[in-house]
Amino acid sequence: MESDKDLRKLLSQLNLPLGKLNEFIVNGIDEGIWITNSGGYTIYANPTFTQLLDIPLVTLREKHLIDVILFDDKTPSEIFLSPSSSDPHSRHEIKLLKNDKSTIWVMIGASPLFDENAKYLGSLFMVIDISQRKKAELENQNNQAKMETSARLASLGEMAGGVAHEINNPLMVIIGKARKARRLLKPDDENIAELTQALNDIESTGRRIEQIVGAMLKLSRNQQVSKQQETPIDEITSELLILVSERFRAAGIKINVTMPEKFTFECSPIQISQVLLNLFNNAFDAIKDLETKWVNLDIRKTESSAIITLTDSGPGIPAHLREKVMMPFFTTKAPGKGTGLGLSVSFAVIKDHEGSFEIDSTSPNTCFRITLPLHRGQALALARAA
Ligand SMILES: Nc1ncnc2c1ncn2[C@@H]1O[C@H](COP(=O)(O)OP(=O)(O)OP(=O)(O)O)[C@@H](O)[C@H]1O
Ligand SMILES: [Mg+2]
Repeated sequence: MESDKDLRKLLSQLNLPLGKLNEFIVNGIDEGIWITNSGGYTIYANPTFTQLLDIPLVTLREKHLIDVILFDDKTPSEIFLSPSSSDPHSRHEIKLLKNDKSTIWVMIGASPLFDENAKYLGSLFMVIDISQRKKAELENQNNQAKMETSARLASLGEMAGGVAHEINNPLMVIIGKARKARRLLKPDDENIAELTQALNDIESTGRRIEQIVGAMLKLSRNQQVSKQQETPIDEITSELLILVSERFRAAGIKINVTMPEKFTFECSPIQISQVLLNLFNNAFDAIKDLETKWVNLDIRKTESSAIITLTDSGPGIPAHLREKVMMPFFTTKAPGKGTGLGLSVSFAVIKDHEGSFEIDSTSPNTCFRITLPLHRGQALALARAA
């Protein structure tokens, strides 16, 4: 070919053998080149590929495909496991395992290599690092999910507010009528004791509903203005307990609250309430069928922060799930039961508050800990001063 001749001429002028040129290309390109033999063992990788995996070539040579590729249900395994039949032009997005067992997203193209008798000798893979793009995609997805959740929470809040409002008036009627009936009782009425008791029960149950409705109304009102304000911690916890205690009591779950001192801190009370409500709901789901059922809410303050710890009687989150549970859409609940957004939204809310949200793996039980600065901007100021 004409161009071939021109190339040879140029190379001879440069005094550069063709093999050397290939070597320059293979060593210099941004694409990883990886060649395996027919048994699936690595026989060659260019520097881009070994750097991508952070594995020296000598180590890589001892590795089989299955040590390098993360096979999950999204990996088109046929291109690796029966490569002779795979389409040499296809490209796939898969994950590879690095030396430290972390994973990296790549786009991989596989070309099977045959000898002149069409015998399969091995495969040549061209590999492009797409981890940045995947990260951006994931962030995008997270943001989308968070927006959808807060929209959903907002409309739920609105609805709760509406319902609460509607319940309030008839409730006042019930409480009023119970009182009136009690006044109308005559001391010489038959069953006076039982009647009085029944009317007292109606009134006190009505009062409880009133409290719950009040908490719901407050939640929905706050929803519209989720601004930061100096908030007494016990205001948040007492509203929260009103919302959850009945359900927990009915399921036989004991709630213990420890709060050595009351204090105020700067936060969006509605958001912090939602985070705690979500933790309580998660604990409920996790322990409702256990033999030992309790949750401990421990709230204390240090010089600069509020520390809120919720421990439940469950056995803890297994190490391999600890990161996963924070991911949006990760749920172990039955379809339709959980969306898997609770913890990731909580994490985002706490991060927004310049705080930290963590699973305490040193506890023998399931333990979530939230640390919040008492004043916003404080974390920044401290960091700057350091
Ligand atoms: N206290 C807990 N004990 C055991 N596992 C938990 C606990 N809290 C969370 N998890 C695990 O973490 C998963 C994710 O929790 P997350 O709150 O993000 O979502 P969800 O509760 O499944 O659904 P959603 O909160 O969106 O309705 C849960 O499905 C569960 O497997
Ligand atoms: Mg949840």
